[in-house]
Amino acid sequence: ENINRWLGGNAMTVKSLKKVLKNHPKEQELTIADIGCGHGDILRDVAKFGRKNGYKMKLIGMDANPTAIAYAKKLSTEFSELSFITEDIFSKEFKERTFDVVLATLFLHHFKEDPLVSFLENTLKQTKIAIVVNDLHRHTLAYYLFMLLSVFIKNKMIIEDGLTSVLRGFKRKDLVKISQRIQVKSQISWKWAFRFQWIIQK
Ligand SMILES: C[S@@+](CC[C@H](N)C(=O)[O-])C[C@H]1O[C@@H](n2cnc3c(N)ncnc32)[C@H](O)[C@@H]1O
Repeated sequence: ENINRWLGGNAMTVKSLKKVLKNHPKEQELTIADIGCGHGDILRDVAKFGRKNGYKMKLIGMDANPTAIAYAKKLSTEFSELSFITEDIFSKEFKERTFDVVLATLFLHHFKEDPLVSFLENTLKQTKIAIVVNDLHRHTLAYYLFMLLSVFIKNKMIIEDGLTSVLRGFKRKDLVKISQRIQVKSQISWKWAFRFQWIIQK
């Protein structure tokens, strides 16, 4: 998560959120979910953004890993607008939820195209405003950049996980194809360092 912060990933997500909320009346409460939230870093940044800009927000972090959720809760005691739940996004419970905005950072690359398409189709039906995706660009240079960064990382698991994630990342054409399959107009922008910001707006 720190790597994400250093490389500007969280700031990018907050910026896109600001964009999709442009026409939203501030007095109307927003339900924003971060799926695959890990330790909840992004939602704490979103909470700060919401407070600073006068939004009423109900923020829900979801992750299938209970240890990540327990830690996210521990880190978020000062944020009453935030809650965290252990939940698999493919569960029945998830399908019954509704949101204004769904955030997915460094998360969707975990899934193969077909399950991802049906997940996005369903989640779009449950979402009023937008799904905001921030994920890795699959690129040889990104792989070597991460290898270089690995010099500063002691934990071998983090290094291997990072390299595998880059290999599972997206090409722009993958995102275009998925957007066509789910029949939405989406905005795809490339950001340093090897990130795609993909806004699927309704
Ligand atoms: C690479 S981490 C990203 C964490 C965070 N979004 C970030 O940007 O730092 C991916 C997270 O997705 C979670 N995850 C994987 N499969 C999941 C599923 N089916 N439902 C919910 N969470 C899942 C993992 O437990 C992990 O915490």
